[in-house]
Amino acid sequence: MDLAPTAAAGVTAATASAAPPFARDLWYFALLSRDLKPGRVLHKTLLGEPVAFGRTKAGEAFALRDLCPHRGVPLSAGRMADDTVECPYHGWRFGPDGGCRLIPSLVPGQDIDPAKIRVRRYHLAERNGLIWIYMASPERQGAEPPEGPPDLPLEAGQRPGLVERQLFPCPVDHAVVGLMDPAHGPFVHNVWWWRKPDSIHQKAKNYGPSRRGFTMLPHPPSKNAGLYKLIGGRPVTEIVFELPGLRYEIIKAGAKRVFGFTACTPLTESETEVTQVFFWNIGWAGLLRPLLQPIARIFLGQDRRMVTLQREGLKHDPRLMLIRDADVPAMWYFRIKKEWTASQAEGRPFVNPVGETTLHWRS
Ligand code: FES
Ligand SMILES: [Fe+2]
Repeated sequence: MDLAPTAAAGVTAATASAAPPFARDLWYFALLSRDLKPGRVLHKTLLGEPVAFGRTKAGEAFALRDLCPHRGVPLSAGRMADDTVECPYHGWRFGPDGGCRLIPSLVPGQDIDPAKIRVRRYHLAERNGLIWIYMASPERQGAEPPEGPPDLPLEAGQRPGLVERQLFPCPVDHAVVGLMDPAHGPFVHNVWWWRKPDSIHQKAKNYGPSRRGFTMLPHPPSKNAGLYKLIGGRPVTEIVFELPGLRYEIIKAGAKRVFGFTACTPLTESETEVTQVFFWNIGWAGLLRPLLQPIARIFLGQDRRMVTLQREGLKHDPRLMLIRDADVPAMWYFRIKKEWTASQAEGRPFVNPVGETTLHWRS
């Protein structure tokens, strides 16, 4: 099931809906560059589709539908051979463009042309240690993506400083809503180095629309969020959300920059991979990795625990609520996703349903 807000006047009921589970015609974060070694083939299910990732000797990443067109065996169970993927069943070979290059069983006179046999190829882009995949709707499969992956505020060649990745046993909507929810901090993340429930106070945050989402405009971080103190100076943070389930936190303190990237990538309708990657330009921050890594693991694990508990309740298909103002970002998410899907289906520009506004809540 997914959450679908209906009428709203303070409280919005969210019920099961027939909306498609995944937003399409978008770039999704798929893998880290370091996951994909040359000469290896890697399987990953994304949006319910089997995908085989490979890398050529020259270092170019590629992705094919992980299903041999001959008899359906996953190509990822085979091997890389001369920059092709070789199916383990009868050894047919497919190039990075999806074209069949070799059918070993053919003898002279058997004039089937391998070049006419293709496996679906996905568009990939690789930047700053992140590999993106374009997940098209069925009508647009094969067409060039109209634009590249998100343009992140990173310097060329800047690489991840810290990565934490966890599998959330929930549909992508619950993972996204959980990560953008401002009211759970004092209860879910109530550890001494972050928040205490008794530190709750009233907050007002200004929001504005951005490309395919919304931005919490630059502001000094909460005084009760202790980890920001590590950066020193007077940090200012800006938080951006955009489809499909991407969240960017840009922290600036003088010339120091920390960029926190979070991606909720649906693997199936009931499993979502949540990846957090931190980039920084602070020389000494790398020394703190042994400290920061377990903190990131605990922090994301606290969110994961909540969606795992939530799964128990959702088995009974309850009606859910979204309340003002703490759940307004979640309401926006659903509206944005719906509008994006409608705009793509109707072949018209996306109209962002979010306006400039200030939200108030206690956390
Ligand atoms: S199933 Fe792949 S080569 Fe036959
Ligand atoms: Fe959280």
